Amino acid sequence: MELKVLQNNEISGDAYDAMPYASYPYPETNPLLLQGLAGLYGLNPASPSKARILEIGCAEGMNIIGMAALFPHAECVGIDMSARQIETAKRHAATLALTNVKLEAISLSDIPQRWGQFDYIIAHGMLSWVAPSIQEKLMEMCGQRLAPQGVAYISFNALPGWHMVRMVRDMMLFHAEGAPSPEAKAACARDILQRITAMTGQRGTAYSTFLQSEQDTIKNKPDAYLLHDHLEENNHAFYLNDFVKLANAHGLAYVADTDLTTQGKVNPPPEILPLLSATQDRVRQEQYIDFITSRRFRSALVCRVDAPPRTEIPLEILRHMHVLSHFKVDAGQNGAKVLNVPGKLAMNASDADMAALIEQLDKKSGQSMPLAPFIDALPIAGQKAFMEKVMMLMFAGGFTLLQEPMQHCSALSQRPVAFPLARYQASVQEWAMSQRMEVRPLNMMERAALCNMDGYHDLVQIVEAVKPYAPGKSESDIAALLPELMQKLARDGLVAG
Ligand SMILES: C[S@@+](CC[C@H](N)C(=O)[O-])C[C@H]1O[C@@H](n2cnc3c(N)ncnc32)[C@H](O)[C@@H]1O
Repeated sequence: MELKVLQNNEISGDAYDAMPYASYPYPETNPLLLQGLAGLYGLNPASPSKARILEIGCAEGMNIIGMAALFPHAECVGIDMSARQIETAKRHAATLALTNVKLEAISLSDIPQRWGQFDYIIAHGMLSWVAPSIQEKLMEMCGQRLAPQGVAYISFNALPGWHMVRMVRDMMLFHAEGAPSPEAKAACARDILQRITAMTGQRGTAYSTFLQSEQDTIKNKPDAYLLHDHLEENNHAFYLNDFVKLANAHGLAYVADTDLTTQGKVNPPPEILPLLSATQDRVRQEQYIDFITSRRFRSALVCRVDAPPRTEIPLEILRHMHVLSHFKVDAGQNGAKVLNVPGKLAMNASDADMAALIEQLDKKSGQSMPLAPFIDALPIAGQKAFMEKVMMLMFAGGFTLLQEPMQHCSALSQRPVAFPLARYQASVQEWAMSQRMEVRPLNMMERAALCNMDGYHDLVQIVEAVKPYAPGKSESDIAALLPELMQKLARDGLVAG
């Protein structure tokens, strides 16, 4: 649905019709995060604010365009073989008047030499979904085109987890053979999985449990996901060990997975400890962890072999870093606070220093804080233990460490201004990218408000603009609701001023 936008709002909605399928930002590819991870391992890629960033297989460009909008002085380049997708991406970039993003419909094998080297190369959803010859080209290109301290993010379907998904893929492809259209193919694929799951469901076997979980996974995914993941003609999963060998063969070294929990450093099962301590090779250790967790997806960071990552992260580096929290702070029983990272970890607030850090970060709503003031405020004797705990919580998925702050505006001015990309996206779709590169779903009132947060309209005018999208609510109801609604948009990183 296209929204009515008040005068003075220069955003047009002409890209709306041309979105045949979804293209999203991926927060894990945010160069600020990649820079932070690289920094932990002793690398020093350029600041994202002025970096050269290349995305391979950028599809309709929502990820690389998001980066260009976030870092106006960075030089962003997105390539994809699909001319149609690049046309759409170019329309988005043109509507946003972005001058720092170049979008080209070419193959990664044809990137001209004159484009030079890049500080960040992103290849999300590429490696597993192209032919082996293109996989080699992708790695070769990263080896040749990374700046000396640059890093490449390469995600892929992983083994052993994908061995099980392959059973589902095979039955889907078998059943969907000859389907007359992509939609029919997806429908056949869903149908067979549903039938087989229903038929095996009563048995309570490992097989039936897996089929049920796979059905749950794909149930709410769009056809495009199913077609381009489970059913894609090229679908090659890698053991981490083999991925690293491929990278090494092209002059690349493995830095780490962007999900540090994959290292299994926190509370590994006791039975695995002898295997982990029998080797100093981190790739081997992570491979054992993948066997335990049946890992099916990885997002690896690699760098040039001539500037290899260090093997251990020195504790003292934490004094120079900024911290982002993934904890939610909830009230537990008896009023005691509970600190949770949904799906990853839960802890009570018994460590007062750590609880204070987490609670302060919670108030910053997704923005980072420098660690040094926290560390320096502690008695010298307690600083090491505190830093060790921060490091442990980072490996458990509770914190992300950055070399540069991740901040966004959280105070609204009299005539508020939305983050321009979010304002544009609100005018054409039901979600917008936050300044943390997250997808933030939007309801109609939020969309109408964002569209009109253009620096021209004050609260009274925005109330008027929102009114048609708040059926059953009076002007005074909306006037009462709107400040909190806009504050929430600001907290969620959608506001620039
Ligand atoms: C599975 S999609 C992933 C798109 C996007 N990166 C994402 O994760 O949403 C793979 C993309 O790679 C593109 N692609 C495939 N082979 C390519 C090549 N040789 N050079 C450039 N792009 C390619 C496809 O057109 C497609 O858009």
